[in-house]
Amino acid sequence: PIPVIAIDGPSASGKGTVAARVAAALGWHYLDSGALYRLTALAARGRGIALDDEFAVSRVAAQLDATFLEGMILLEGEDATELIRDERVGEGASQVAVLPAVRTALLQRQRDFAKLPGLVADGRDMGSVVFPDASLKVFLTAGAAERASRRYKQLIAKGESVNIARILEDIEQRDARDKARTVAPLQQLPDARLLDTTELSIDIAVQTVLDWWKS
Ligand code: CDP
Repeated sequence: PIPVIAIDGPSASGKGTVAARVAAALGWHYLDSGALYRLTALAARGRGIALDDEFAVSRVAAQLDATFLEGMILLEGEDATELIRDERVGEGASQVAVLPAVRTALLQRQRDFAKLPGLVADGRDMGSVVFPDASLKVFLTAGAAERASRRYKQLIAKGESVNIARILEDIEQRDARDKARTVAPLQQLPDARLLDTTELSIDIAVQTVLDWWKS
């Protein structure tokens, strides 16, 4: 079987960075599942589809023309790497992610990322739905205020004008939506190891996951 490390957790917890670095350290593939929800929201918006139109959005998800190339993400052949990180696209992703038909449409595409020598997958339901047999499951989190401050620094670095109180509010709203939804809610599974990075550097977080994998 192909080894999979599933890393789930809330918004802006740093799981994307940690997962990508763990994958690089092991020489494994990396799945940024949130990017698929972001691409779906972006493609739907581009076609003028309402983000709560479950049937139409799930068709967009099923036909999504997305390419992942060494850190670059293409939508219909065009570079969408930066565009999908936009806060409005993240908000759209969180809206389409509540739709069961959208999640079903993206399921096999996510599983297809599991190739030798292994996969590190990051998202909300990697350990619960997409890779329930993962060799290692990690629930990676951080306090909401710390997550807001990390997102704030990222956005400032991109030259965006942002308000930290507003970011905290968005993060709390997104957490609530991710936890409350009926399909694939965000949860800490009984078989997942808890990694609280509120006071941990990225280096230590990466090393902790690697140590868990090796032990
Ligand atoms: O963590 P952040 O919200 O910044 O972004 P993301 O990981 O790219 O995920 C974007 C949105 O997609 C989240 O708000 C989740 O609602 C949703 N998502 C999901 O439902 N399931 C996944 N496996 C990954 C993301």
